[in-house]
Amino acid sequence: MVNVENLNVKFGENHVIHDVNFIVNQGEIIGLFGISGAGKTTIVRVLTCQIEKKHWTGNVKVTDLSPAKKTNHSLILTNIGYVPQLELLNLYFDLSPIDNVEVFTSTYGKNKKEAIKIAKSLFKILDLPEDTWNKRVKHMSGGEKKRLSMAIGLIHRPSVLFLDEPTTGVDASKRYDILTYLKKLNQTLNTTMFIITHDLESALICDKAAILREGKLLEFDTPQKLISSLPSKGLVARFTVEHLNEKLIDYIKKFSAIKTLLRVGNEEIEVLMDDFEENLPKLIQYMIDNNIKINSMSKDFASFRRYFQIRIQEEEEKEKKFKDSEGD
Ligand SMILES: Nc1ncnc2c1ncn2[C@@H]1O[C@H](COP(=O)(O)OP(=O)(O)OP(=O)(O)O)[C@@H](O)[C@H]1O
Ligand SMILES: [Mg+2]
Repeated sequence: MVNVENLNVKFGENHVIHDVNFIVNQGEIIGLFGISGAGKTTIVRVLTCQIEKKHWTGNVKVTDLSPAKKTNHSLILTNIGYVPQLELLNLYFDLSPIDNVEVFTSTYGKNKKEAIKIAKSLFKILDLPEDTWNKRVKHMSGGEKKRLSMAIGLIHRPSVLFLDEPTTGVDASKRYDILTYLKKLNQTLNTTMFIITHDLESALICDKAAILREGKLLEFDTPQKLISSLPSKGLVARFTVEHLNEKLIDYIKKFSAIKTLLRVGNEEIEVLMDDFEENLPKLIQYMIDNNIKINSMSKDFASFRRYFQIRIQEEEEKEKKFKDSEGD
């Protein structure tokens, strides 16, 4: 469905994407994760024919067509949909949802009647109340506008849908709604989806997660497999420690089975270890012996958010070591 081989993007001297490779199959949801400037949008812009060929190299195919050839662009664009970060960019707020569909259809040169039929079925999947269909978009709630924007991106029945930050600016409870609706659309229509996001909760609905850092693809796999690759398959011990400070943290870190220690709150730490079950009682004993007061303790599996933090931290430490050794 989407193939990316040795993708490199350069803007003049600025080498923005480095040797990125991945394959996406029909019907998969892919999450593109990475801190600001990691290259998420740039990759999607290559896939959606928005970056001139002189800026990139590699073998890229979207719905079996290469965006490297300008003559393929119009066909690729009819095969894909794009939902921008701001609904403003693909909706007319002074028109009704149905009128928006008509405007969209005329720009795509599609049959109006057919498009409205498709739109209504999408509105139903997305639970857009029927009494909003003919009223101005500006009176809809934020969540409804987002869902309408997703529906508009799907009117021409694209096989791949790109969504830029679909959950940004939506409150926490609505965020889960949006994710649930995306999954529902994906399952009902078998649409392949790319979700660009800072929202690590989105991994919940992703079949694969791509983790990008400084233009490099660090990981590309199912969130579950990534989490399981952590020590002890991602088992985490969470401690609340009285008067936690950096000195205490350094002290706890001396316990040799600890692979990773993260401070996750004012008095909270999370610890990953090899041979977790065997070492946990030993760690607790070590803390007691050293007068470290544990107020509470729980055991859990790492979330994708935690995995992401750990993976990025690891990369930063690797880089720091490399720089230090170069400085010697
Ligand atoms: N047209 C361009 N010319 C020069 N540099 C660019 C251009 N487009 C992007 N870049 C650079 O490429 C890098 C990656 O940008 P990109 O927009 O892909 O990041 P991102 O991961 O989408 O970040 P964000 O989460 O902030 O949207 C940045 O350093 C950016 O400055
Ligand atoms: Mg971006």
